[in-house]
Amino acid sequence: MKFPLVQIQKVVFLLFLLTLNSCFDPELEHGVPGQFRAMLKNDPATSIVLGWNRFQSKKDDDMVYYDTVDHGDDAEAYAYKAVPQFYSEYKEIPSAFVELRNLQPETRYYFIVQNSFGLSKRYYFETLPADRGTRLSIVAGGDSRNNREPRRAANLLVSKLKPHFVLFGGDMTSRGTAKQWWQWMDDWQLTIGEDGRVTPVVATRGNHEKDNEILHKLFWLPKTNYYSLSVADGLIRIYTLNTEASIGGDQTNWLKSDLEQYGKHAKWLMAQYHKPMRPHVKRKKEGDNQYKYWAPLFFDYGMDLVFESDAHTVKTTWPVRPSTRYDSEEGFVRDDRLGTVYVGEGCWGAPLRKNDDNKVWTRDSGSFNQFKWVFVDDQDIELRTIKVDNAAEVGSVDENDRFSLPDNLEVWNPAGGEVVIID
Ligand SMILES: [Fe+2]
Repeated sequence: MKFPLVQIQKVVFLLFLLTLNSCFDPELEHGVPGQFRAMLKNDPATSIVLGWNRFQSKKDDDMVYYDTVDHGDDAEAYAYKAVPQFYSEYKEIPSAFVELRNLQPETRYYFIVQNSFGLSKRYYFETLPADRGTRLSIVAGGDSRNNREPRRAANLLVSKLKPHFVLFGGDMTSRGTAKQWWQWMDDWQLTIGEDGRVTPVVATRGNHEKDNEILHKLFWLPKTNYYSLSVADGLIRIYTLNTEASIGGDQTNWLKSDLEQYGKHAKWLMAQYHKPMRPHVKRKKEGDNQYKYWAPLFFDYGMDLVFESDAHTVKTTWPVRPSTRYDSEEGFVRDDRLGTVYVGEGCWGAPLRKNDDNKVWTRDSGSFNQFKWVFVDDQDIELRTIKVDNAAEVGSVDENDRFSLPDNLEVWNPAGGEVVIID
């Protein structure tokens, strides 16, 4: 007796499910594309990368349907379609990725993904503005390993704040097992609003990502895990760096040449990487290599804002520049005119540590679950530290009024003030 191929696939798939603890997106349990994420890779005004997980051995049956008009689950009604350009398999996690190009700026695109098991939910994303005369909303944080409750709270808050994108500083999971990544992907779905709004993420490798290959396979990052991005026609140039690979040499050479070629022409420069130069937790090792290779470049090219993670504590610094002057501490002095503001350091669900290593140039520090919420336009950068634990009680912003603070949002208000302004 012969079984149709699809039936066999379904049985194999169900057996596979039984071998893992159940922690899946309910869509995936039926083989339908699920565990969605969106990434920024080229110009975010006209392109986006979509990724999802799949339980498919066949690599030719996923199809993305998309349009500026919402057609719900009527696949054939969508004006455009695209097939994945990249399939990957990290441990037992098969993913597919598509980069959509030639999109219109500042436009909502609705999409669904179909395979032989069925249709995904209908999602949408927004392309970013194509000019500098705009204002952007960014959430930045990192270290989501271990504690799912705060991790899920922070994710839920992303769906409510509706930022243009998230900068994520690494250490998504603690051990990088398939089960932990399934759970992480499940939890990440909370960043997607009830109306299907997907917030793109710009991911960074942490030390708990043991190899560059992991984020390459799960987010389609470049194999080096370091890359740059121009947003809103150079309103911001964003550098994602990799503290878990060799820092001097190729990476720093690349950083310098990119700063020279593109960074110089951008209005604002931002960087994110996992391990801080000067962690605000005593038992953490100083980031002397980052300091040696990157701090001088940051100063020379006028880096405005740097997001660090890894220490699982909270800090904002005054603008600082590298110096060995008599009043310097750990190689930095405050310089309000030319310095770089460093913020961090993790707290998206990792075990919190005591902020026991302040410097003279520390603006504020603390220890609680948090991320940064940043508004950027051509006048200034406004940064707030948001406590995430009460996410369920926080109201949602309106996409057309996304810079108004929603009800019940807990903004940290330390001695140095609630808002850090960079202008
Ligand atoms: Fe770390």
